[in-house]
Amino acid sequence: MKTILVTGGAGFIGSNYIRLVLQQHSDVQVLNLDALTYAGNLENLSAVERAPRYTFLKADICDAAALDAITASVDEIVHFAAESHVDRSIEDAATFLRTNVLGTQTLLDFARRRGVARFVHVSTDEVYGSLGPTDPAFSETTPLAPNSPYAASKAGSDLLARAAFHTHSMPVLITRCSNNYGPYQFPEKLIPLMIANAMEGKQLPVYGDGMNVRDWIHVEDHCRAVDLVRRDGRVGEVYNVGGRSERRNIDVVRTILRALGHGEELIRYVKDRLGHDRRYAINDEKIRAELGYATLHNFEDGLAATVAWYQQQRPWWERVRSGDYRGYYERMYGSRLAQP
Ligand code: NAD
Ligand code: DAU
Repeated sequence: MKTILVTGGAGFIGSNYIRLVLQQHSDVQVLNLDALTYAGNLENLSAVERAPRYTFLKADICDAAALDAITASVDEIVHFAAESHVDRSIEDAATFLRTNVLGTQTLLDFARRRGVARFVHVSTDEVYGSLGPTDPAFSETTPLAPNSPYAASKAGSDLLARAAFHTHSMPVLITRCSNNYGPYQFPEKLIPLMIANAMEGKQLPVYGDGMNVRDWIHVEDHCRAVDLVRRDGRVGEVYNVGGRSERRNIDVVRTILRALGHGEELIRYVKDRLGHDRRYAINDEKIRAELGYATLHNFEDGLAATVAWYQQQRPWWERVRSGDYRGYYERMYGSRLAQP
């Protein structure tokens, strides 16, 4: 049985990834290491929390002693843990530098001490900066030009992962993905925020002119790509992952409103995000050609299914918005938590 240490597994993408890995690989066990910041929600994993091949450990990736206290063998690491929201990084960059930069180096050092066989660093397309309307999509060789403190901190961690490969010959692989959407996304990001606000009859804040473009990918497609890279990717390589679904923000918002049966009266154009990147687009030829990757979800169907999920799972996001989800860890795990 192989043990994969997944960091940030209580977040949006990490929790989707853990469900996928447990479902697809019967010879894998998962150790989910997460500090449970505001973005960590163990309810996202209620479907697997009692599974024999799943263990949760509340710990911070910046805490080298807590990492060294893990007694279980760790064969591979898939590193999702990060501060992930651009607006928060504009307000206060310090936690982004701590977790994304220092935390990643602390985890890389741990991985080297343990001699892990694979270290997948989950980076982002935001490290490439912003595109003009007719620029070609980002490829793996596009120079890094991050524009927000979040993106700069992710670029720092991405380069530290690269350095670990070059300096220490560590088996590092890097993915750079575009904007994810789907179940269990924290309702501070565009799509779940707009769905939840519309369902509550609240205003929908569209930044600037609403013409910024993002390349949307369903979270399950991103997770399958990360898992392909973990299994078959070449160490030392970067793999872009995209959805081939460039959409303007205002069009995404209108589609959500239509799906919920609302008109456009809830839309409010608000002051633009500082340094707001205009357009992201991903060239994902490499992962398609090398690893046989293909997306399974098209954006329109995926978004409709996501709107339906937030309608059916209203208690989930209402507990997030009220703060009630914060008590889940104590209620669920209490004193029976054992150090793995
Ligand atoms: P998220 O904010 O939903 O989840 C982050 C998780 O990391 C949370 O569970 C949180 O508790 C945990 N965490 C934060 N700081 C920690 C620390 N110091 N120690 C241990 N755990 C910590 O994020 P997400 O949207 O799921 O993104 C996951 C990863 O994917 C991030 O690295 C992000 O940069 C990257 N990414 C995200 C997207 C996207 O569209 N959301 C796209 C490309 C790449
Ligand atoms: O591209 C990958 C990145 O996508 C990830 O690395 C980040 O972790 C993730 O948060 C996401 O970053 P964005 O800044 O693109 O996502 P966000 O959902 O915050 O915003 C998407 C677009 O919508 C962006 O142009 C800003 C706009 N927006 C966002 C919010 C929250 C609004 O117009 N109104 C809003 O209220």
